Amino acid sequence: MARSAPTFICQSCGSVYTRWQGKCDACGAWNSIVEEGATAPVAGAAGPAARRRGRTFTLESLKGESAEPPRLPTGIDELDRVTGGGFVRGSVVLIGGDPGIGKSTLLIQACAALARQGHRVAYISGEEAVAQVRLRAERLGLADAPVELAAETNVEDIITTLGRGAPPRLTVIDSIQTMWTGAIESAPGTVTQVRGSAQNLIRFAKTTGAALILVGHVTKDGQIAGPRVVEHMVDAVVSFEGESGHHFRVLRAVKNRFGPTDEIGVFEMTGRGLSEVANPSALFLAGRDVGAAGTAVLAAIEGTRPLLVEVQALVAPSTLGTPRRAVVGFDSNRLSMILAVLDAHGGVKLAQHDVYLNVAGGLKIGEPAADLAAAAALVSSLSGQAIAADTVFFGEIGLSGSIRPVTQAPSRAKEAAKLGFARAVAPAMPRDAADAGLSVEALSHIGELVAQIASG
Ligand code: TYD
Ligand code: MG
Repeated sequence: MARSAPTFICQSCGSVYTRWQGKCDACGAWNSIVEEGATAPVAGAAGPAARRRGRTFTLESLKGESAEPPRLPTGIDELDRVTGGGFVRGSVVLIGGDPGIGKSTLLIQACAALARQGHRVAYISGEEAVAQVRLRAERLGLADAPVELAAETNVEDIITTLGRGAPPRLTVIDSIQTMWTGAIESAPGTVTQVRGSAQNLIRFAKTTGAALILVGHVTKDGQIAGPRVVEHMVDAVVSFEGESGHHFRVLRAVKNRFGPTDEIGVFEMTGRGLSEVANPSALFLAGRDVGAAGTAVLAAIEGTRPLLVEVQALVAPSTLGTPRRAVVGFDSNRLSMILAVLDAHGGVKLAQHDVYLNVAGGLKIGEPAADLAAAAALVSSLSGQAIAADTVFFGEIGLSGSIRPVTQAPSRAKEAAKLGFARAVAPAMPRDAADAGLSVEALSHIGELVAQIASG
């Protein structure tokens, strides 16, 4: 085969160019475009002579097939919750996350759990030697689990090895960036190699019915191909997040063809690996600064699960022409909106103040129900009046200053009551929410919140 013209590929988004340029037009990354060999034809794709006629099915004819895909629950509840009840056979999951966050640790624990149930499980490491993986397993108390380990980076070799005997029920590839296929000339880690290797491994999973997990490192610089190019090829994308200063980790489904995408799993990194956190609210509220102004507890919902978190605000007179607005774990557009509504309808003037908003513990909160807690924390910080420690907040703020109802009020109230809170400041609620054991202070307008906090 004649070598075709060189191809230039952006290592962060996978866009293809015919010549080199300094900036990727598609994703805006600088210096991310690298020359790679032309993409080889997909191995196994037949030429015109070998064309076969495909088959189609009617939806109706598939009626007898089981509605629930066959799943492999690991028994690690926080993990199974995120995947939607266990890994689906023949499906491919991409787990992304910063280096050192605990991906390998979580996956070796999942492998051991499934292997102990009697499934054939293979863990292929392209980053660590077998002895290192075994040492880690030993440290986690999993050394006796019958997981097949291999240190291998060539996809063809891996598929040949796995193809021996009954195919494994679960295969973990750690990580996809270290894999390479002989069918492609590019160096390992480039977009073309990552995509080509993933394609081959995914085909293996689909034909054997093995569940496949691909680990992908997310790096900020463009040197290692971001696993983004693989995202559309897999059935589920899960991200493993955490703040470096905190022990807990949050597993979150970003895309899931076989389950919900709003569930989270909470883990804590301990000396013996990741342990499940069954009661995340208690963890997120630990170390709360009770009695300090500028904090409010939010009763949030993550997926189907209520979660209490502390929202912290700091407002201080600004010396800048344009005052600072900084958020951590909160949407900056929502903060701007809350500030505007507080100004227009609550008489709270913050135009000359720097405003900082932080969701304690490193959690990211996206739901509108957090508005009321954020507003309460802001007003509390400005007035210097601390909010009673036994009060939780939830509710959406409308542009007119109205406090609007939010979903799942009863579960929010119940969770708060369970953790010892006595009072909820929230929009008017149905009766059953009020029965949770909390006294509910129903607000209908932002002005009422401001008046209430100012009066202490
Ligand atoms: P690792 O799973 O190797 O991260 P990743 O695969 O995402 O790069 O986890 C590495 C970190 O986890 C490392 O900094 C040490 C820590 N760790 C513990 O705190 N306890 C443990 O039992 C293990 C195995 C790791
Ligand atoms: Mg690792």
